[in-house]
Amino acid sequence: MNTKIIGTGYDLPAFAADNNYLATLVDTSDEWIVERTGIRTRHLAKEETTTSMAVNASRQALERAGMQAEDVELLIVATISGDTETPSTACRVQAEIGANRAVAFDINAACSGFLYGMHVAEAFIRSGIYRNALVIGAETLSKLIDWTDRSTCVLFGDGAGAAVLAATEETGIISQSIGSNGEKWEVLECQGRPNGNPLCEKGQELKYMTMNGQEVFKFAVKTVPLCVEDAVEKAGIGLDEVKYFLLHQANKRIIQSVAKRLGQPEEKFPMNLDQCGNTSAASLPILLAQMDEQGLLQKGDRLVLSGFGAGLTWGACLLEWQK
Ligand code: COA
Repeated sequence: MNTKIIGTGYDLPAFAADNNYLATLVDTSDEWIVERTGIRTRHLAKEETTTSMAVNASRQALERAGMQAEDVELLIVATISGDTETPSTACRVQAEIGANRAVAFDINAACSGFLYGMHVAEAFIRSGIYRNALVIGAETLSKLIDWTDRSTCVLFGDGAGAAVLAATEETGIISQSIGSNGEKWEVLECQGRPNGNPLCEKGQELKYMTMNGQEVFKFAVKTVPLCVEDAVEKAGIGLDEVKYFLLHQANKRIIQSVAKRLGQPEEKFPMNLDQCGNTSAASLPILLAQMDEQGLLQKGDRLVLSGFGAGLTWGACLLEWQK
């Protein structure tokens, strides 16, 4: 049994913070941010939460799929910024949308989270255990960021995207290539809550996200082309037969470098990072849902989705659009 995407949705916070707004917070400029990253604005949550955005994105995806929430069998949220340590964001979303028959859990694979979610969902659907899945990427990264650190705070944004996956006799997901390298965990990390148990030092500081930007950059431009090529080779097709390469929206220069290494024209690499920044696990499903909304995807189009992020983690998924 194959797996196809039958509905997409997304949600972004109302407030869009442009680069000039950030220049009022840290020593930076619109020129520097645009030149080094391609980002112009990002949406930041005020009233919105990871759960509320995931719920809105899910409702839209289910509506576009023509599916009722109570028919969802598997509900996965990829996030590193849930509203509660426990329960999972997936359980909160399940309750809000009324997906009361679903098995619900979260996945933590940072910016590769949505691809990891698709990987897991596809395996369950292919094995016949579930007939469908709602896979969501949702993040409020703005709460993990040190807003005095100009090397990270200019990069990230908040938002959520969702996709409904269903079993099909047609072609859908064709091949995947996915990996992790825990040895490099310190390159991009955010410590959890400090331990306040009676044995531990009192009043330990809450830590924010830290990143070695150049290491992440090198990792991305090396690993993404390899996993994209691997997924395409596994399918026995050529890169030229792929219509769009949807890459994790972290940095325009990373995307341009990957396009060059793959020998593919930049027009095949859609971007929304100028408007959304890096929304981690939400980045790929937001981009996919926006393209779907704009009517850019036709039945039979071959798409590659590829992401990379903390862990380190990475992945690529080749699929044929069947909506
Ligand atoms: N505004 C102005 N100057 C800044 C700045 C900012 N927001 N952030 C850093 N700088 C400064 C640095 O302090 C440094 O100054 P110095 O030379 O006086 O020390 C200078 O700019 C160059 O810093 P550097 O880190 O070498 O810049 P860079 O060209 O590597 O760009 C990143 C920095 C973060 C944009 C780039 O490394 C990157 O995009 N890495 C990948 C990050 C990523 O995608 N992470 C998420 C993965 S999921």
